[in-house]
Amino acid sequence: TSTDRINIAIDGPAGAGKSTIARRVAERLSYVYVDTGAMYRAATWYFGQRGIEPEDEEKLLQMLPDLVIELIPEPDGQRVVINGQDATDEIRSIKVNAKVSRYAQVEGLRSRLVALQRQMALRKGVVMDGRDIGTTVLPDAEVKVFMTASVEERARRRFNEMKEQDQITMEQLIQDMARRDRLDQERKISPLRQAEDAVLLDTTNLNLEEVVNVIISMCRSFVRVR
Ligand code: DC
Repeated sequence: TSTDRINIAIDGPAGAGKSTIARRVAERLSYVYVDTGAMYRAATWYFGQRGIEPEDEEKLLQMLPDLVIELIPEPDGQRVVINGQDATDEIRSIKVNAKVSRYAQVEGLRSRLVALQRQMALRKGVVMDGRDIGTTVLPDAEVKVFMTASVEERARRRFNEMKEQDQITMEQLIQDMARRDRLDQERKISPLRQAEDAVLLDTTNLNLEEVVNVIISMCRSFVRVR
């Protein structure tokens, strides 16, 4: 029955390992993984392509109803399709990285994406990662985790998942990451913040399996797990 399914919210700064962990947790529970960062990235790519700057909020909101984002689960990740066009790699580009925090500050864009995210979680059985899931999107999630790691460790992890490694140094990446953390934490609407009832999990010295197991054991009081 759907009554014994729960929602799991995973928040934290960039590169803390949220997406890899969230995907593994979803696999273990046969739940659906929702990568909300990919949605902000998709919007950034879409409006960037059309020359709409985040400051041009009126134009942006006018065009918002035309934006269709599909997250298609795949064995090793997910495909991101924007208005029928595959943009899985494009949304991870350095250009999108550099601009996404500015688009993520646009109130009307956030409320639209938050509404979509809530819809996806209505029937429960969702592992959702982002910045404001435990605080804003799913305040009633049964399990909430706030995942962190040192900025150096996060930059190292992000570097390893990048497709354009020759175009950036680790030093630049650390700086870029610290800048993005700051923007995400200081923005007015739904800043990156640990929910009061979230469990803080520092993953600097933990491997993937260890982190997954910590979260799975948090779920055991709600659902039966292998
Ligand atoms: O998790 P990520 O690095 O792919 O997220 C990209 C950006 O999107 C990040 O800089 C902040 C923003 N974001 C957000 O504001 N709210 C979310 N729930 C998820 C991401």
